[in-house]
Amino acid sequence: MTNTEPVIEIAGLDTRFGSHVIHENINLTIYKGEILALVGGSGSGKTTLLRQMLGLTRPARGSVRVLGAERYDGSHEQQRKLRIRSGVLFQQGALFSALTVFDNVALPLREMRTLCEETIRELVMLKLGMVGVEPQHARKMPAELSGGMIKRVALARALAQDPELLFLDEPTAGLDPALSEAFVDLIRSLREELALTVIMVTHDLDTLVALADRVAVLADRHIVALGPIPEIIICDHPFIQAFFGGVRGQNALRALQRS
Ligand SMILES: Nc1ncnc2c1ncn2[C@@H]1O[C@H](COP(=O)(O)OP(=O)(O)OP(=O)(O)O)[C@@H](O)[C@H]1O
Ligand SMILES: [Mg+2]
Repeated sequence: MTNTEPVIEIAGLDTRFGSHVIHENINLTIYKGEILALVGGSGSGKTTLLRQMLGLTRPARGSVRVLGAERYDGSHEQQRKLRIRSGVLFQQGALFSALTVFDNVALPLREMRTLCEETIRELVMLKLGMVGVEPQHARKMPAELSGGMIKRVALARALAQDPELLFLDEPTAGLDPALSEAFVDLIRSLREELALTVIMVTHDLDTLVALADRVAVLADRHIVALGPIPEIIICDHPFIQAFFGGVRGQNALRALQRS
């Protein structure tokens, strides 16, 4: 990795829900232009950490700096600007079921209250084109779309405001292997085209191997390993061994070695 400009800096972060401790002293720096994958068991706090980077869940302790600004201090205006500079594809509820494809993608643009309908229309069609959704699908309702198409439309919505940071929570969950591969290719080309930094949660090894520049492993409330995949797999932490050790893990790693 050549770029060393930090875009997210998490320091001394603790998370607690009541007496339940989720994270303890998390330190993590994410650099401009990289794809960082966050992995860990169910309930290890991956989604929570994404939400903390997005300004949606305040940590019990520690600081979260995003694009040079404190995420939980500072004016309303600063928080609003940071929000616009981040796009997100959530793990659940990808689209609003009562809105058309067009209106789903238009929503964040309309919320800005600065753009006329003509500009919004152009931007929505541009973003749909970027993710490979043809114009005739714009009037459809989410229930009329395939799973792969829903993910693409949700990605178009995440990109609506031209974010610098893209957060993806399990982007390929629920897609069959072919659709999943197509979605991975799409993310890779968008990253290049738009110079995005991508923070991605995934439990899918193929997605991880195909996309991640670095991997952060969350276990036992800590980041137990951080680095490129070849450095991660030699760690003897039980979660890492179980995650990469199975047949699928070995296949995915062979694919990585071939590429
Ligand atoms: N708002 C909340 N209030 C109370 N507990 C919460 C809240 N949000 C998350 N938790 C708890 O924090 C823990 C971490 O949740 P989180 O959703 O971050 O896990 P995850 O790593 O994303 O899991 P998964 O892989 O299943 O998506 C879980 O035990 C969850 O029940
Ligand atoms: Mg989650």
